Amino acid sequence: MKALVLAGGRGTRLRPLTHTSAKQLVPVANKPVLFYGLEAIRDAGITSVGIVVGDTGPEISAAVGDGSRFGLEVTYIPQEAPLGLAHCVLIAREFLADEPFVMYLGDNFLVDGITDLVDAFRESAHDAQILLTKVDEPQFYGVAELGPDGAILRLEEKPENPRSDLAIVGVYTFSPAIHEAVRAITPSARGELEITDAITWLIDNGHRVHSHLVSGYWKDTGRLQDILECNRIVLETIEPDIRGSVDGLSTITGRVVISPGATVENSVIHGPAVIGAHTRVSDSRVGPFTSVGKGCVLEDAGVEYAIILDDCVISGVSELTHSLIGRNVEVTRTPGAPGTHQLMVGDHSKVRLRS
Ligand code: G1P
Repeated sequence: MKALVLAGGRGTRLRPLTHTSAKQLVPVANKPVLFYGLEAIRDAGITSVGIVVGDTGPEISAAVGDGSRFGLEVTYIPQEAPLGLAHCVLIAREFLADEPFVMYLGDNFLVDGITDLVDAFRESAHDAQILLTKVDEPQFYGVAELGPDGAILRLEEKPENPRSDLAIVGVYTFSPAIHEAVRAITPSARGELEITDAITWLIDNGHRVHSHLVSGYWKDTGRLQDILECNRIVLETIEPDIRGSVDGLSTITGRVVISPGATVENSVIHGPAVIGAHTRVSDSRVGPFTSVGKGCVLEDAGVEYAIILDDCVISGVSELTHSLIGRNVEVTRTPGAPGTHQLMVGDHSKVRLRS
């Protein structure tokens, strides 16, 4: 069995971060979300992985390399434009050969991994297995309608009026029958070859498609609120580990990781929280549910429920919350002019200030 990991796409909902980096590399508890998926694939006993990449291919391959650090053998498959999930299967035909495979969307996160799902598929005679989970806003996902016996009646991609609250999770398993399906379908109204249409083709042509309800936690991390929530869930499971230096005036409570070379002075770190290597925290309050990348400076700052990437400076600013802050960002107090705000932010940024 092989794996096909999709790590292309534009990541429009995470702009401006995705102007400069891949959405699959946004860190969750200081580790790229894509790495959790690769580890889940390895844990399911799969070693041969094709990664479909787009414009951010060089960044993805710099992070993942040949896969050996994960115990995987990685082949990169370039996609010339984001033409749909079924298009990814089409261009991966040679890599996939005639083996069954799991297709994993690189920004999806499943707390319980995929081992049970892959084992169930291996033992079955199904041509496709999809995972479903109940969501609050099904219109943002592929949606399945099931019959009373659990059979799939219909699959729709981001319907305006969803017929159920069962979203399709971005992890699918397929037999080689899918290759005929992706060749048979035509682009949708949004101009993409939809995997939901290919699965519908399988059903309509008498192939066995099975759906499985996911009970564990799942997130598509393509939106701000989802990646912050995913970060919270993962931080709640981290093992406390204090490697950096913490002075006697500081308090550390709960699950906290202080990475090597980090320093904490006269501060409160309220877990769960992760402080990256060589980050300096002084006279600040950090956490809960916060991860701070490498090489940052937090001074006289207050941050909770946030993801801060590498090399940021947060100084003289308290009550930062529900925030995702990209690399090399400075958030500081306005010098001299009380009651004013000064901004220099990138295209498509979102800034919310207390009025
Ligand atoms: C894709 C699929 C959709 C699925 C979702 C899960 O959408 O097209 O059916 O529910 O992934 O993450 P995307 O998030 O790529 O728009």
